[in-house]
Amino acid sequence: MKVLHINASARDDKSQSLRLADVFIDEFRKKRNDIIIDRFDLFHDELPEFGAIASGAKMALFTGTEQTAEQKSVWDNARAVFDRFAEADVYVFNIPLWNNGMPYILKQFIDVVTQPGWAFGFDMEKGYTGLLTNKKAFVVHASGVYRDGIAPNFGSDFSSPYFRDWLNFVGVEDIHEVKFMPTVVNNDIENTYLTAEKETKALISHF
Ligand SMILES: Cc1cc2nc3c(=O)[nH]c(=O)nc-3n(C[C@H](O)[C@H](O)[C@H](O)COP(=O)(O)O)c2cc1C
Repeated sequence: MKVLHINASARDDKSQSLRLADVFIDEFRKKRNDIIIDRFDLFHDELPEFGAIASGAKMALFTGTEQTAEQKSVWDNARAVFDRFAEADVYVFNIPLWNNGMPYILKQFIDVVTQPGWAFGFDMEKGYTGLLTNKKAFVVHASGVYRDGIAPNFGSDFSSPYFRDWLNFVGVEDIHEVKFMPTVVNNDIENTYLTAEKETKALISHF
């Protein structure tokens, strides 16, 4: 079984979301001895840009025109990232909240891999269909101030609903989430961590 761990934190060994993703992976290893882990560190590993040439390549597909040689080459680079993504049976994502949304690097990853015919299909009558079926995802969200139920002056979380919606969009429906919140403005962070850790360990039963 192939597991792709996508680390969207820039904080390396200080990352709170990564700490929980690692707990999940340790538990998973204890449960199954056949898992192969591929870790994609979005802030360190090679991730192509998705700019003028790539969006031109995408629109050429939409409009049924031939891609230029330059567009084809950029498209092949995006395809390599998609293939690495599509190969996995299980996804582990750890995602910090940045300015009430997700870190830009994760959105870049989404924009690279979410392509017609790869991640989704489209039909004029039925609309979109996700193509990455029969996969499961474990997702950790961490935020420093925001927590569910906090007063509006303390921010919002557009990251976790967007991320869940995107997973559904590409066909991943079996999603299990843990929220480690808040990680900074918190007088009892150890207890908040222990609760999140307990939830993480309990969720392993779904995998
Ligand atoms: C660029 C940046 C933006 C942030 N924006 C928010 C925010 O909008 N709301 C919040 O509650 N915390 C915010 N934080 C705090 C992080 O969400 C918090 O430190 C969390 O633990 C980050 O996850 P990590 O430890 O895995 O990197 C921000 C941190 C950084 C570095």
